[in-house]
Amino acid sequence: MAVYSLPDLPYDYAALEPHINGQILELHHDKHHAAYVKGANDTLDRIAEARDKGDFSSIVGLEKTLAFNVSGHVLHTLYWQNMTPDGGERPDGDLAEAIAEHFGSFEAFHGQMSAATTLVQGSGWGVLSYEPASRRLIVEQVYDHHGNVGIGSVPLLAFDAWEHAYYLQYRNVRPDFVKAMWEVVNWPDVAARYAAALAATPAG
Ligand SMILES: [Fe+2]
Repeated sequence: MAVYSLPDLPYDYAALEPHINGQILELHHDKHHAAYVKGANDTLDRIAEARDKGDFSSIVGLEKTLAFNVSGHVLHTLYWQNMTPDGGERPDGDLAEAIAEHFGSFEAFHGQMSAATTLVQGSGWGVLSYEPASRRLIVEQVYDHHGNVGIGSVPLLAFDAWEHAYYLQYRNVRPDFVKAMWEVVNWPDVAARYAAALAATPAG
């Protein structure tokens, strides 16, 4: 039985228009995310095969492929939940306070997150993460799906900066897509993830 499975989108393909059009969402979910799910399952099978044969000559490539696909699956699953047709505005409560404390202000965080997403070289993500060793919020600029990430960081809000996330609508103008992303952020979802991450790492 497959270990990983493609989650349903929590809304219709066109639900995020005009910010993200339905064609993008359909392809992004049904083709791209589905490919990472398949890639993760296939790679687990190939690693199991290697164990059965006692032949680990391909293990370096297999481990890289596993990290790429599992991380792609995890980030896309988060991404769909991070967006809502009723999004935008700003966070409130504990999350808003933590953002102000750890970034200086919401505006400063907004600037850093936008820049980290816009300026990814090649394919990647801008991610607001909870870093448990310091119990702080940080922004990470993720390469592909799994590079440039601090071990143990818990992703809370992910902006996909791969061309497949925006090219059909925004062409090469990634900054306009990033601007649109802020209009669909599901802040209650981000706040719930922050609360859960905090609760999972009580102060030592
Ligand atoms: Fe993507």
